[in-house]
Amino acid sequence: MKEQIYLIGFMGSGKTSVSRRLARLLGIKCLEMDDIIKMEAGKEITRIFAEDGEEAFRQMETALLCRLSGEGAMVVSCGGGVPLRPENVKWMKKRGIVVLLRVSAQETYRRIHSSTNRPVLAGHMNVEYIAGLMAEREPFYRRAADLVVETDQRSQDEIAADILQGLKQISGKEQTDEG
Ligand code: S3P
Repeated sequence: MKEQIYLIGFMGSGKTSVSRRLARLLGIKCLEMDDIIKMEAGKEITRIFAEDGEEAFRQMETALLCRLSGEGAMVVSCGGGVPLRPENVKWMKKRGIVVLLRVSAQETYRRIHSSTNRPVLAGHMNVEYIAGLMAEREPFYRRAADLVVETDQRSQDEIAADILQGLKQISGKEQTDEG
């Protein structure tokens, strides 16, 4: 039985808030990858990118996922770049179900245009750039996902309810496949 749930998706897709809500509904803990990395590195993500480089940050993500795959039930809110590495997808799928939160480029811009802690978008905070990066990432997100949920114009309660329903279907199928 898979007991971990990994929320993936582009920056601003609502992973953090939806994962908290989902964890509360399921009565399990919730972890935010970026928060753990910040805490362990002792600095903000933007400083990790600036001082150690993006590759170092990506390695921290992979090492963290490897560790989490050895733990118990939890909802994990992933950084937007996590599904880009096949190794990361392998770790997530070892114990978990991967849920993709989809969002449009316009909505992403609306939600995060004033953010200063998204190094990937630094100097490119506009809808066109976001749309381009999103299109590049979409195949990686789709390949990783067991479940896909649209988030534009939907409340967090609706999104969490959709995920719960999708999870039920997946675990019903898992049981039938096993039985
Ligand atoms: C990133 C997304 C960020 C953070 C880092 C890189 C990305 O997380 O991990 O800035 O490459 O998409 P959020 O998706 O939580 O903003």
